[in-house]
Amino acid sequence: MAEELSVITDASKEEQYAALLPQIEALVTGEPDLTANLANMASALKYGMNFFWVGFYLVKKDELVLGPFQGPIACTRIQRGKGVCGTAWENAETIIVDNVDEFPGHIACSSDSKSEIVLPAFKNGEVALILDVDSDQLADFDEVDKKYLSRLMKVVEQML
Ligand code: SME
Repeated sequence: MAEELSVITDASKEEQYAALLPQIEALVTGEPDLTANLANMASALKYGMNFFWVGFYLVKKDELVLGPFQGPIACTRIQRGKGVCGTAWENAETIIVDNVDEFPGHIACSSDSKSEIVLPAFKNGEVALILDVDSDQLADFDEVDKKYLSRLMKVVEQML
């Protein structure tokens, strides 16, 4: 396992992801513990891509419960269908929000969060957990983020 992330800053977002993802894959390869791997993934994404907040919410019974994350403290539990995360869970789909103030029912864990992307990971056809990435910039997420973060969720799904 690499001891340090090699982070590229003077490059396009696509190049940054392309450099980071193999490192994340290497970081979790051979480690069976889900919590440890989600924790390292959250850190690698936060510091590798300079995001404001990166974290996982795990489906536990009828709600999402906060899992490993990096960034300011966040709300602990989210009901199905509530906020961006609960909606992504209910609809079993990725959601990109350009302006969180315009998303009905958005749950504001930090007033500094301006846009976000939320992706589900599946186990046996059901959403098992959610990745939530927040930015302090408006409209910071697009199809490039969706492409690479979806690839990351496939890595997560192999651990579930
Ligand atoms: N904004 C999310 C809640 C999680 S925090 O952003 C970390 C939502 O609306 O579901």
